Amino acid sequence: MVCQVPKPAAERPDPAGVDPLVVGAPTHNRGLPGPGSRKEARAKGGEGEDFGVAEWLPTLPPATAARAAAFDTVTGLGFFSGSAAKRIAILLRRRGLTVVDRANFLAGDQQGPLADDELARAHQWGASLV
Ligand SMILES: Cc1cc2nc3c(=O)[nH]c(=O)nc-3n(C[C@H](O)[C@H](O)[C@H](O)COP(=O)(O)O)c2cc1C
Repeated sequence: MVCQVPKPAAERPDPAGVDPLVVGAPTHNRGLPGPGSRKEARAKGGEGEDFGVAEWLPTLPPATAARAAAFDTVTGLGFFSGSAAKRIAILLRRRGLTVVDRANFLAGDQQGPLADDELARAHQWGASLV
């Protein structure tokens, strides 16, 4: 299941029975997007919703699914880029899920889109999880 985390509570995805639960976000300031970084993203022409993965994950009922995986986008692969997925994995574990894998996908720049071949790699990664 692929879905976004929209603002109105009634439209938020119901992850019950989804296994594995795969959660992703862009890396912002070396971690998960928050109110400040979303404002920055909007100032650069991005979308930057007010309610995102950082707000949604703590609302998950404990042990929503057995398995989970986390991914993010980064503008460089390495320690200095940071990783939203790393933080997502921590929040998933706090909700009782077992994180089976984590991946970073390279965006061309801060406005996206994904760099060449990264979309294909993302498809392969998704397929490897099920
Ligand atoms: C405010 C802001 C901060 C960002 N900080 C980082 C960062 O610390 N490390 C990184 O690798 N990419 C960073 N990025 C790039 C994003 O992770 C992402 O690759 C880029 O925004 C494109 O994806 P999107 O179109 O889904 O937002 C940042 C982008 C924005 C807008």
